[in-house]
Amino acid sequence: MKTYKVAILGATGAVGQEMIKILMERSFPICELHLLASARSAGKKLTIAGREYTVEETTENSFDGMDIVLGAAENDIAEKYLPIAAEKGAVVVDNSSAFRLDEQVPLIIPEVNPQAVHEHHGIIANPNCATIIALVALQPLHAYANAKRMVVSTYQAVSGAGVNGIRELNQQVGALAHGKEVSVSTFQYQIAYNLIPQIGGFNEAGYSSEEMKMQNEGRKIMSNPELCVNCTCVRVPVIRSHSESIMVEFEKEISVEKARELLQGAPGVRLVDEPQEQVYPMPLDTTDQDLVFVGRIREDMSGHANALSFWCCGDQVRKGAATNAVQIAELVIQEKEKQQE
Ligand code: A2P
Repeated sequence: MKTYKVAILGATGAVGQEMIKILMERSFPICELHLLASARSAGKKLTIAGREYTVEETTENSFDGMDIVLGAAENDIAEKYLPIAAEKGAVVVDNSSAFRLDEQVPLIIPEVNPQAVHEHHGIIANPNCATIIALVALQPLHAYANAKRMVVSTYQAVSGAGVNGIRELNQQVGALAHGKEVSVSTFQYQIAYNLIPQIGGFNEAGYSSEEMKMQNEGRKIMSNPELCVNCTCVRVPVIRSHSESIMVEFEKEISVEKARELLQGAPGVRLVDEPQEQVYPMPLDTTDQDLVFVGRIREDMSGHANALSFWCCGDQVRKGAATNAVQIAELVIQEKEKQQE
């Protein structure tokens, strides 16, 4: 079996750590693994599958000879290093938003548009986590009835803001339990026992950057420049797994029963929809696994024809980031192997 030289940029962060775990879980064929981070982490030892690895400081030379580079760092770091990695011949799968809307860069959810892997020029982008979760749930319905308009509200976990987000919620809960003042640095306000209706900066129309990703990235992934999405993104005091309330208007008629039938067993989805038994998706249940749970499916009652509402949850560090990136890397190596046959 052919094996590959793999580097992870941002290997010490929340997504980078999960990428390592998922590469191992899925037995990705690796012959060399390089863990790249900032100078702060250089020299740190990590044990992976019984082997000790040393975290390396990222430099331009870190990418020499690499076949696959997984990006798990912020936009500025991705912009600085990943074009260099691609120039040096690696195929890059990047989780930042730096390249997502670049026309030369495919934006892929393997359950939705795996064919886009043929179109890359060295860099492939992993979509926004809330967008991945929404579109994995939507795809089986869209393939049948053609989605044209969506109204989405997200309930996004603190781990979406990296390890600092998790630390901040835990610290604040601990401080409040001991009657101490909380300190705020990662989020705009105290997140413990609160909700913050802002993820990213706002545009002139009052939508946040996170809210615009659902429409802009959704249009690109679904190859539908006319898809209309109205989104409200909210940070919630949940450690892990994003939840979303979604109303979709379709071109074709689609019943609740048909939607359930289409979602049952669809790739990447688990139907969890027995409301009378109090069975529905919840973020604690989707944490640390890859399926997007979908439930609370019901007809829209606000007067739109062919419209359904549903609720879905997914682990945004796994399927919303690391697993999706590793699945894309698997498509890349399948493609490479086909070309060599
Ligand atoms: P480090 O741990 O050395 O700071 P998160 O989003 O969870 O905070 O993770 C961000 C990731 O990006 C971490 O692995 C972090 O490494 C890495 N990173 C931050 N700054 C740089 C940099 N200048 N060069 C390379 N990696 C960086």
